[in-house]
Amino acid sequence: MKRVIVGITGGIASYKAAEVVRGLCTKGIEVHVLMTEAATRFITPLTLQTLSGNPVVVDMFAEPRLWNVQHVAYAKKADLILVAPATASFIGRLTAGIADDMVSATILATTAPVVIAPAMNSQMYRHPAVQANLNRLREMGYQLIAPGVGELACGDRGEGRLAEVSQIIDQVLGHLLRKADLAGKNLLVTAGPTREYIDPVRFISNPASGKMGYALAAAARDRGAEVVLVSGPTAQLPPPGVKVSRVTTTAEMLAAVLEHFPAMDVVIKAAAVVDYRPQTRASQKLKKGSEQYVLTLERNPDILKILGERKGDKILVGFAAETQDLIENAREKIKAKNLDLIVANDVGQRGAGFGTDTNIAAIIHRDGTIKEIPLCSKQDLAHRILDEVVVLTRGRKS
Ligand code: CTP
Repeated sequence: MKRVIVGITGGIASYKAAEVVRGLCTKGIEVHVLMTEAATRFITPLTLQTLSGNPVVVDMFAEPRLWNVQHVAYAKKADLILVAPATASFIGRLTAGIADDMVSATILATTAPVVIAPAMNSQMYRHPAVQANLNRLREMGYQLIAPGVGELACGDRGEGRLAEVSQIIDQVLGHLLRKADLAGKNLLVTAGPTREYIDPVRFISNPASGKMGYALAAAARDRGAEVVLVSGPTAQLPPPGVKVSRVTTTAEMLAAVLEHFPAMDVVIKAAAVVDYRPQTRASQKLKKGSEQYVLTLERNPDILKILGERKGDKILVGFAAETQDLIENAREKIKAKNLDLIVANDVGQRGAGFGTDTNIAAIIHRDGTIKEIPLCSKQDLAHRILDEVVVLTRGRKS
């Protein structure tokens, strides 16, 4: 039986959590409820206790009724934590790592997937501080269920009402069901750009943010894989529960990938690798001199091609960033690098590619079949890619 911890924070939508708890219980899930003090102003712990059939914890310092060192115990025993509704102030506390209530303390202590369903007034929802916090939470690997649009309890109309109860339950179930489909698999993801230094303060690179690779690492972890993330320099936060190896240059990325490669079942190369490096790297900062400066570059190794040559039974997934002839170029790369799948994105399109939170892609198989993925979040695309990987792993020995 799967165990879900439902955190309820205090807003007018708190009452809807009762429906969520009931819905999860009827699906055969063991539900435990944690509430903030504010949530108890809107709905009583007794209601949730009756619906879930388990004690409800509000006070972090109360005598434990079920498990000792309560927030850690709940954090460890959870298959998934759902926060519904999540208020603006709760989202702010969690983003800042403040653990002064039972819900946030439990989340900070868990490695289980966390799903957050925000609900608040639409102006509050649109506030830049709230949006920035939600983006941070997304980057940390939390899954957000976007609020719905419509009539709000305060009389306003707009974005901010808690997502439909059925939608929340579906997302939780989807998460729990697919959680195990990469269990027992070792998966390596590369992310971010590489850098090639010209001198100690100047380098050649590209604007890759690492968001796609980090989303893949978090999604694979949520689906039960043991994940190694080899990351170039990025501003992304390391996803909890993932082993991170930080590198700077293409040569360092190659070395880190080769070190882990023998133990891997799946390798996904989302990194935007710099193909050329300066032939020499000046040990001191270069001074400006003549009007022109010629920099001689030499080829970097093609990491994915090297992996393709040693592929064996492993599943290899590449990315193709293109600005023209997307599908044709991507197909060429599948062959040239001996890949199983390639994720082609047209980095020239709005909403796709470097630095965005969204992507538009085509997932192309070795046999030529194509799955077009319309504009979606990088988290969603990560899961769509892993869905294809899972199908491929079924055909391989474990
Ligand atoms: N890649 C790699 N090592 C390189 C260059 C690319 O491992 N030196 C990987 C990328 O991580 C990506 C795939 O190869 O998964 C394709 O990268 P892309 O930049 O689209 O293509 P390139 O192979 O570099 O080819 P080109 O620049 O000619 O389009």
